[in-house]
Amino acid sequence: VASDRADNVDDTTGFTPLVDNPFAHQTIGKRTPCLVVDKITADRNIAVMADANPGTRLRPHVKAFKSTALARRLSDAGHQGFTCATLAEVEGMMRAGLGHDLLLANQTLDADHLSRIVELDGRLTVAVDSSETIAAATAGRVTEVLIDVFVGMPRCGCPPDEAGALATQARAAGLTVRGVMGYEGHLMMIEDRWRQAEQVAAAMEDLTRAAEDVGGEIISAGGTGTYDLHTEATEIQAGSYVLMDTDYLSLGLPFDLALWVEATIISVNHHQGWLVADAGLKAMAMDHGNPTWPFGDVWFCSDEHTTLSPNGDLDRDWRVGDRVRLAPAHVDPTVAKHERMWVVADEGVVDEWPVDLRFW
Ligand SMILES: Cc1ncc(COP(=O)(O)O)c(C=O)c1O
Repeated sequence: VASDRADNVDDTTGFTPLVDNPFAHQTIGKRTPCLVVDKITADRNIAVMADANPGTRLRPHVKAFKSTALARRLSDAGHQGFTCATLAEVEGMMRAGLGHDLLLANQTLDADHLSRIVELDGRLTVAVDSSETIAAATAGRVTEVLIDVFVGMPRCGCPPDEAGALATQARAAGLTVRGVMGYEGHLMMIEDRWRQAEQVAAAMEDLTRAAEDVGGEIISAGGTGTYDLHTEATEIQAGSYVLMDTDYLSLGLPFDLALWVEATIISVNHHQGWLVADAGLKAMAMDHGNPTWPFGDVWFCSDEHTTLSPNGDLDRDWRVGDRVRLAPAHVDPTVAKHERMWVVADEGVVDEWPVDLRFW
């Protein structure tokens, strides 16, 4: 666990509980469920990563926070290029003046949308892994591509030994090939760091072999879980580290939880001893499991409710109308469910970051 964590880290949950929920009053008046970001922690995460991967060594992935306000903070921290997963993210970043060097690290066949985006101010590089996506890039008047290479995760990416031929095909179509990308997402959550480092190195052997065949200067790879394990990659695509989630927190990386879903207690069952909060699976992504609550157990989530079992005596304090904060297990899809994040610091709500890069 990070050495700069506060002393009161809870050994069971691994994160610092907001003791007596000191910030909850600050967002009273805001409707729940809502997203709350601890500004100091997010800024510290940004600084820790910028130290490890400064400037263009990091190409932050905006899919994890979907907010140009937050992307601007990363740009201010020195990262000029960004990674996107959707054309809406690319378009939003360009319209916000953050399109200096954007990588769509995903396949698209939407030549119409591409051709509208290339009219905007900015530089766009698109990942391609087939003749079809090369054709869409040229039809969409994109000029620069990366060859997306399979490095072990069964998703996009051509076989490493086909990357060179695809690059030749792209060049013949008039495209500039800037290099390769390969996302080793299947290796992010390996707890044993030595084993993880070994497997990342093996995956990157495939990518560097493909890079030799493809040419170009970029080898783009990596994520939050492998942010410090790359020697061959020229840039790292991490994004979750800014706000974090309990899944990534379990790895003991030097990034702390900055994002919470705040909810209101709408029912207290004094007889059997549970609380009901007004945030359910429509307010939090559940694909990595239940959210965590520092003051007790999460029993289950339904559409609009989470049933909580508090530690200790229920009659102690919990009342209808109390605010609670739940820590989501998966940041990206949780953020995508909301329109804004309330940014809190000691003095209360200090900012509002619109989640303006949502949808496709
Ligand atoms: C293509 C790609 N690159 C990088 C990442 C890394 O993101 P994270 O910071 O969540 O590990 C992801 C996450 O899913 C991804 O899809």
